[in-house]
Amino acid sequence: MENIEQKLIPIYIMGKKYMVPESLTIITAMEYVGYQFKKGIGCREGFCGACATIYRIGSDYKLRTGLACQTVVQPEMYLVQIPFSPAKKPSYDIEKLKPDVSTIQEFYPETFRCVSCNTCTKACPQELEVMDYIQATIRGDFKLVVDLSFDCIMCGLCAVRCPAEMVHYNISLLVRRLYGRYLSPRSQFLPIRIKEIEDGKYDKDMEEMKHMSREELEKRYKERDLNFKIT
Ligand code: SF4
Ligand code: SF4
Ligand code: FES
Repeated sequence: MENIEQKLIPIYIMGKKYMVPESLTIITAMEYVGYQFKKGIGCREGFCGACATIYRIGSDYKLRTGLACQTVVQPEMYLVQIPFSPAKKPSYDIEKLKPDVSTIQEFYPETFRCVSCNTCTKACPQELEVMDYIQATIRGDFKLVVDLSFDCIMCGLCAVRCPAEMVHYNISLLVRRLYGRYLSPRSQFLPIRIKEIEDGKYDKDMEEMKHMSREELEKRYKERDLNFKIT
């Protein structure tokens, strides 16, 4: 078997030095030296936001951020895992809110203290334009907030760094909820289809299909009318 020798590099976990193969991610490097993750880990694929990490390289003052499952180790990395950061998350009843800036003022007044430093954008491992979605929130451009924040995985790294002490991901969550509940375009066909279902238009077909074999169902699916129009 081919012997692939990996170069070992020094990293620091809670101040203790370890030598790890240079190709590992932060998570696999920590497992390599014996850490077992029970918290601060989830999907291992960059989607769940559970593995937020802050680090410095050597004595460089700059604080860097990343997802531990996606960030490859570097020599002299000093690591701090942030499995959870306490964050403001008020309770509200979406049915009782107005879909405009006044609601943001009520629940997240700190949003308006943004000093446009762009630290949040630089901290985001998803490379989202975080500052831009906060500015869009302030302007009341909720559609833009939805577009810019859609891929947020709620890792919390933006909020950990913000000098205005805001929780970007919960603010954009409220905006997305308001947009979905009040502002997004409605389907003109949905109420018609719901009425048809309530009136029992499909009851006979449903009953029939419940008793079909898998093959019969597949055949019915393939032969369905693709030009079907709602009248
Ligand atoms: S880090 Fe905070 S203050 Fe700076 S741009 Fe982002 S939201 Fe504004
Ligand atoms: S916007 Fe904030 S919480 Fe969302 S992915 Fe980016 S850094 Fe993480
Ligand atoms: S473990 Fe899910 S994003 Fe890293």
